[in-house]
Amino acid sequence: MSIPTISAVIGSGSMGPGIAALLARYGSQVRLNDISEEALARAEQVCAGATKALDALDVPVVPGGSVTFELDQATALDGASLIIEAIPERIDLKKTVLQQIEAVVAEDAIIATNTSGIPISDMAVAMAHPERFIGMHWSNPPHLIPMIELIKGDRTTDEVQDTLIEIVEAFGYEAVVEKEKAGFIENRVLYAVLRECLALLEEGVATQRDLDTCVKWGVGYKLAVIGPMRLVDMAGLDIYEAVASYLNSDLSNETGVSELVTRLTKDKKLGMKTGQGLYEYNNGEVAEKRADIVQGLITVRKALSAIKPV
Ligand SMILES: NC(=O)c1ccc[n+]([C@@H]2O[C@H](COP(=O)([O-])OP(=O)(O)OC[C@H]3O[C@@H](n4cnc5c(N)ncnc54)[C@H](O)[C@@H]3O)[C@@H](O)[C@H]2O)c1
Repeated sequence: MSIPTISAVIGSGSMGPGIAALLARYGSQVRLNDISEEALARAEQVCAGATKALDALDVPVVPGGSVTFELDQATALDGASLIIEAIPERIDLKKTVLQQIEAVVAEDAIIATNTSGIPISDMAVAMAHPERFIGMHWSNPPHLIPMIELIKGDRTTDEVQDTLIEIVEAFGYEAVVEKEKAGFIENRVLYAVLRECLALLEEGVATQRDLDTCVKWGVGYKLAVIGPMRLVDMAGLDIYEAVASYLNSDLSNETGVSELVTRLTKDKKLGMKTGQGLYEYNNGEVAEKRADIVQGLITVRKALSAIKPV
């Protein structure tokens, strides 16, 4: 299977619209479903923005693609051979919706979940055909980050995984194949970085701006080209061993959530969506920052696509 002729994306919040826009770009007739009319109305705008970003990246348009916005789940699922679930990260809700999906779609339709880290096998227990169920973890924003983690549950077949690898590669993305592990690779690594940064911020070692500057250039820029495993080789394993021997024991090993984050969350200072979080945002600044982020991701992706991978 390359890109499916008809696909369904269930859940149209932060992730669904970008996923739908990318599938449509590659020729799929995508039905984007949500229980909220507001979410679907917002999604139309997000899909339009995603299409502009894909234009800016010179992503080819495969004819025949479209996104329709469906409140009715059964209509959205009708005839779909690939279904991507992107509803909130609650296992009970996901299990219920997976059963609803299975009741409508063909037995050989592939059902993927965009869960950020709920074990695939735990969700699959609710399913009649767990062999066609797989984790497909897109990175946000999904139409711009060309990497998807694929995670088999204990019943998922190799064929389903191979098919998804083909689909991911058909839209020029890289597939990362991994075993089930809480949080999957991307979030395990990202959350290790976030935990350390938040601990340093709480300790007053540096401001949020200095932390961002250091990580963007000293970690992000370098890792975008090299990758951490190659970096260890480049630096020298003896150097890593020497530094890790005194540093690892001093790194944050906080097992709870940062107190600062808990306090800000309680005060509804949730970041860009409420105008205040670890930074404060003046009027109009959120829209400006979001646009700068999209533009930055487009520029850097073009640059990274042009270099020889190391
Ligand atoms: N936001 C991210 O950065 C990100 C990144 C990777 C993976 N994920 C994962 O993707 C999934 C979706 O995340 P999100 O951030 O888009 O969530 P979100 O809360 O922004 O959106 C979820 C949407 O699902 C809708 N919904 C709820 N119940 C539904 C149902 N029964 N049928 C159809 N729609 C329903 C909600 O109305 C909402 O619009 C989660 O599992 C999340 O962990 C999120």
